[in-house]
Amino acid sequence: MEYTFSTEVALRVNGEDHALLLDNRSTLLDVLRERLGLTGAKKGCDHGQCGACTVLVDGRRMNSCLLLAVAQHGRSVTTVEGLAEGDTLHPVQQAFLDHDAYQCGFCTPGQICSAVGALAEARAGRPSAVTDPAEDPPVPLDGPEIRERMSGNLCRCGAYPGIVRAVMEAAS
Ligand code: FES
Ligand code: FES
Repeated sequence: MEYTFSTEVALRVNGEDHALLLDNRSTLLDVLRERLGLTGAKKGCDHGQCGACTVLVDGRRMNSCLLLAVAQHGRSVTTVEGLAEGDTLHPVQQAFLDHDAYQCGFCTPGQICSAVGALAEARAGRPSAVTDPAEDPPVPLDGPEIRERMSGNLCRCGAYPGIVRAVMEAAS
């Protein structure tokens, strides 16, 4: 018997279809960065702790450093590079610019993808750990809600006040 170390994987990334022969051990983050040249998603910790690698998989935010690429066969991935429409930034990207929601920018692609996912979750009526169970959806996105929903994305520069303002504006 022969072991198989690679697998053909079909991925749709930012609207473009790719057929890739991948080492079974590759993470989605490494495939995006090293095979497809999409370096927006960052490798901060490579352990699921910082959120710098956040992308959207079938519309849901995920830490791409924790995903085996072969397990994403047939899925649609959106990275920060795929959010804008031509020269028009996604509203979350624009809000980050308008509110100075970054300093070095290393965490920013992950913050933005995470915010896009968080806003979709709130719109779908998904509660967070701080949502009042007595409230009917949709959840009002105030400061505590946004801080809780964005708590998986760390920023070593401490740009949190701007990030919260930006997400709040994008939510409105
Ligand atoms: S690089 Fe994925 S969570 Fe830190
Ligand atoms: S802007 Fe530098 S780590 Fe967040």
